[in-house]
Amino acid sequence: MSLFKFPRTIYFQRDIIDSLGDILEKEGVKNVLIITDKNVQNSIGGRVEKALGSIEREFFTGVLPEPSIKQIREAVSSLKSHEYDAIVAIGGGSVIDFSKAMAVTLSDPQADLGSISPFESLDLKMKIVAVPTTSGTGSDVSFGVVLSDEEGKLAMGNYELVPEIDILDPSLTPVDKKIIVPTGIDALVHSFEAIASNTSNVFTDALAERAIETVFNNLEKAEKNDETAKDLMHISATMAGIAFSNSGTASAHALGHSFGATFHVPHGTSVGLFLIPTIAFNSQNPETREKYLRICRTLNVRDIESLIRELKGLFVRVGQPVHVSELGIDKKTYTLKLDQLVALSMRDSELAFNPVLLGDEDLRKIFVENF
Ligand SMILES: [Fe+2]
Repeated sequence: MSLFKFPRTIYFQRDIIDSLGDILEKEGVKNVLIITDKNVQNSIGGRVEKALGSIEREFFTGVLPEPSIKQIREAVSSLKSHEYDAIVAIGGGSVIDFSKAMAVTLSDPQADLGSISPFESLDLKMKIVAVPTTSGTGSDVSFGVVLSDEEGKLAMGNYELVPEIDILDPSLTPVDKKIIVPTGIDALVHSFEAIASNTSNVFTDALAERAIETVFNNLEKAEKNDETAKDLMHISATMAGIAFSNSGTASAHALGHSFGATFHVPHGTSVGLFLIPTIAFNSQNPETREKYLRICRTLNVRDIESLIRELKGLFVRVGQPVHVSELGIDKKTYTLKLDQLVALSMRDSELAFNPVLLGDEDLRKIFVENF
């Protein structure tokens, strides 16, 4: 069944967080659980508190990166109330994933968080409201939730976890280029992969194409904290998020996930490393090639070779590495890890969405050639 899901309402405007109470009131929400982490709480907690006006609220501010099922259980038992009209997640991907899991547990205390799947109803008793503070992850609009247990990462999903309301306020995004660049690159890779994915459709293509154009033309200015560019990046990251959460990503994410896990490199940097080689590889598929050529026309470049040249130029200008060696990883260590990198990529669920089938040897070749 073809299906396209996204939040029911997206509010987008710089400083709109100051109207949070009005927005919630308009949405019929009287009582909220605000979920965030210490950094966000320290920088904007007071602003949020003031913006809530007369809305009844409880705060949970202890989200840690890569949340675990154990942390969710502990968080639930630390709350005063268990009944809220909405959970408002203010933060990056981890905070939003944590909040999705909290909504599941608060709606059904017996729910098994490790087995969330698209096939079983979650019957949520509260709305999920996302306020992303980075421009890139797409978890503010996606059905996915990434948690961890004793055995490792659990990447799960259910369409009821697509936040009902998304509030995009670029004034909440970081000023540090060490965060702006990898998250922006992640959004760019989401867009390219949403287009290449074998489950892409006209809705996802339209959003992804526009997101590529905007990210391509604004990342460099956003990295220098140009306000207009950052506003556009924030909206584009969400457009890319809606696109890829409906189409899947593809091989750059499969390779990037295994590379990031093996060498402890941030997500955006890792998937960015494999965008260019996978565009080159996927160009052998005539349909994908045609889609890349449409992007070339949008960006006013002649052909795919020129597109790759332009992408490399952008990467160099913003400080995104093009090759593995630029991260200071030595060749011997990298070569010793090749079997592991290939095996982990083969197991990654995103590989199934790649428009061209990749085997062990194809993956190894990309890893070797991109050193
Ligand atoms: Fe990503």
